[in-house]
Amino acid sequence: MRLDRFFSGQTALARKEAAALIKSGAVSVNGTVIRRPDAAVDPENDRITLRGEPVLYQKHRYILLHKPAGVITASRDRSQKTVLDLLKPEDRLPGLSPAGRLDKDTSGLLLITDDGQLTHRMLAPKTHAPKFYLAALRDPFTEETAARFRAGMMLREGDTEEPCLPAESAAIAERLAVIELHEGKYHQVRRMFAAAGNFVENLLRVQIGMLQLPPDLPAGAYLHIFHKDAESVLRKTHISDVCAFISQNYSSYWINRGK
Ligand code: URA
Repeated sequence: MRLDRFFSGQTALARKEAAALIKSGAVSVNGTVIRRPDAAVDPENDRITLRGEPVLYQKHRYILLHKPAGVITASRDRSQKTVLDLLKPEDRLPGLSPAGRLDKDTSGLLLITDDGQLTHRMLAPKTHAPKFYLAALRDPFTEETAARFRAGMMLREGDTEEPCLPAESAAIAERLAVIELHEGKYHQVRRMFAAAGNFVENLLRVQIGMLQLPPDLPAGAYLHIFHKDAESVLRKTHISDVCAFISQNYSSYWINRGK
């Protein structure tokens, strides 16, 4: 790979800017200053530094965002703020897009990546990663609702009704429930509760597979994570472990809200 291409891929620098930086003598490869933008490098094995600081090579980018409510899950939009608008300019690298969707009013865990293969594995029907949502409800969560979710709920789609896959759910407090989905229909959690005669007042996605929303990550903030962490979206977990995680970590607003 060309050195200037390496830099424009790993940073938000345009190819021309990367070339200028290299020509200025700021870049070394394996301890030797290289001033030729077209010099060939092996990103997996060469030690590339910028002003003495190593530039780590990542084939793909993975951003764990705490999506706030009021922002749409899209890469760009003419009038509304998107999740990509929340990234600093230097982090808005080409090819990044949200892996899956959260509706505008829903907050919580959203992975943004340029790893199309991981996104595909996460969302493909055969391998669909389990997604866990914490729902603050208007009315108490009942065993009857849990049984209807478990049996596979019917949801209205225009003039017809569509079956949902069986979904596990559990109460955290009287009006606070966790629900596990293995598919992504439009506004699914809200519509499932509505079909069961309840109403979702607030919805937070807390976990996908084994990837958790860090409890201390404020809404609107994000972290860069490694491939091995991002891949944990594909690992299986049990809803009881997710409930324990929530009970231990989301004690303030969410737990009080659901009482
Ligand atoms: N279900 C919803 O209702 N909204 C989401 O954003 C995700 C699941």
